[in-house]
Amino acid sequence: MLDEKVGFIGGGNMAFAIGSGLINRGIIKTSQVLVSGPTLENLQRWRDLGVATITDNNHVVDEMDIIFICVKPHILNPCAEDLKKNHRAKSKDMNKVFVSVLAGVNLKDLEASFSFIINVKMIRCMPNTPMQISEGCTVYSSGSNIEPHDLEKVHIILNSLGVAQHIPESMINAVTGLSGCGPAFVYTIIEALADGAVKNGVPRQMALQFAAQVVVGAAKTVMITGKHPAILRDEVCSPGGATIAGVHELEKGNLRATLMNAVEMASQRCADLGRKDNANFEFCGGCL
Ligand SMILES: NC(=O)c1ccc[n+]([C@@H]2O[C@H](COP(=O)([O-])OP(=O)(O)OC[C@H]3O[C@@H](n4cnc5c(N)ncnc54)[C@H](OP(=O)(O)O)[C@@H]3O)[C@@H](O)[C@H]2O)c1
Repeated sequence: MLDEKVGFIGGGNMAFAIGSGLINRGIIKTSQVLVSGPTLENLQRWRDLGVATITDNNHVVDEMDIIFICVKPHILNPCAEDLKKNHRAKSKDMNKVFVSVLAGVNLKDLEASFSFIINVKMIRCMPNTPMQISEGCTVYSSGSNIEPHDLEKVHIILNSLGVAQHIPESMINAVTGLSGCGPAFVYTIIEALADGAVKNGVPRQMALQFAAQVVVGAAKTVMITGKHPAILRDEVCSPGGATIAGVHELEKGNLRATLMNAVEMASQRCADLGRKDNANFEFCGGCL
């Protein structure tokens, strides 16, 4: 259980995955949370949880101790400009920790946007949506004013929702192609596995449930046994058997190269989106 008050500037999908995950796990109480966004109607699911919502981002900055910045990257500057206009410096500002989830926006730019807070403590993290069921995968890097006790608190939050690791900022985009975008790749794999079973006559609902459970089971086997996936695969491929026949089809379809390309392309795209001169930045909101 944390004592800190946790705020969210922007209450969309990523914020909700983190906030609802923390509340459901009992890490924080609803009374410790405050969420801001431009349209109160869009924050209804927070109120359904019992969390207070407001339209004034300044209030979140003023009142909260750990503040997640959860707007889309192209909203960062207008949002920070508005905060700057209305912010009155206070001594407790120096204890606040800001945690950005914005894809592609680096610590230098984040600190510059929030420089209206002297010596702003900034963490850049890259979470993913399975955090809402405490199976997330998050990496984070510290800004120049972060102290060990700040990192400790943020680690408790992020690690309570899955696995979290502190890494050098130079690695964030590379990891994002796997952890931030990876859930979408795996959803596609689950759907395709289920379609294969449906083609063979298995009812759709059962096929989807079994495909998801196969992915969970295989993933847990890798994590719990610590064995290399290639060894685990070899263990289930009997000579002349059904599994090796299926694996051959995967090889013919270039599955491994395709997945490697997907991760590489997603990481590259993430780095590109972080460039403010990128013409696509406005178009997709710089989002994953
Ligand atoms: N989704 C993912 O899987 C994922 C993973 C890792 C990182 N991220 C990062 O998470 C961030 C948010 O993405 P998302 O998927 O959660 O998008 P989202 O669901 O669209 O959430 C963005 C939220 O920001 C609010 N907002 C807009 N303008 C605002 C302002 N001036 N002040 C305060 N709030 C404002 C929006 O409110 P309205 O809807 O009312 O306009 C919306 O609730 C992005 O920067 C993205 O890079 C997302």
